[in-house]
Amino acid sequence: MKTIIVYASTHHGNTKKVVDAIAEECGAELVDATAVREKELSDYDLIGFASGIYAARFHPDVVTFAQKNLPPDKKIFYVMTSAMNRDFSKSMDESLKDKHATVTGRFSCKGYNTFGPFKLIGGTGKGHPDETDLRNAVAFYKGLIGS
Ligand SMILES: Cc1cc2nc3c(=O)[nH]c(=O)nc-3n(C[C@H](O)[C@H](O)[C@H](O)COP(=O)(O)O)c2cc1C
Repeated sequence: MKTIIVYASTHHGNTKKVVDAIAEECGAELVDATAVREKELSDYDLIGFASGIYAARFHPDVVTFAQKNLPPDKKIFYVMTSAMNRDFSKSMDESLKDKHATVTGRFSCKGYNTFGPFKLIGGTGKGHPDETDLRNAVAFYKGLIGS
């Protein structure tokens, strides 16, 4: 199965740690949406969109990349890291509704956060993603690709 993960990870590299773990263990291709604007995705069987969560949304570069490059009727999945460790992917569903994609999975874990006032208290989610988060992410991905 040909798989790619498009990501943005601009706060502490938390999301990058997660997608790197998946890529190292399972060989998925990675694209940094803050550096690459265009890519032909029609050959890929499964496309992931991964991001830290900023103001309850995926990074705008991931959203723009997906709107621009995602072909119709693809299988996709979401990976996110956030302070609150909630599923923030509904806004992606909304942004991509014209693409008629099938969302095959949504993974969330906690990420170290020093945004705004949280910096004053040393941040939240220190040490996350940790080894368990990374193991869970790899297991999630393996479940998606059926290995
Ligand atoms: C500008 C900004 C806004 C954020 N907004 C939220 C938010 O709305 N909800 C949340 O749970 N975490 C929020 N966070 C925390 C990040 O989602 C968290 O630290 C995430 O792991 C960052 O991922 P990254 O290091 O891959 O960029 C915010 C962080 C920043 C810097």
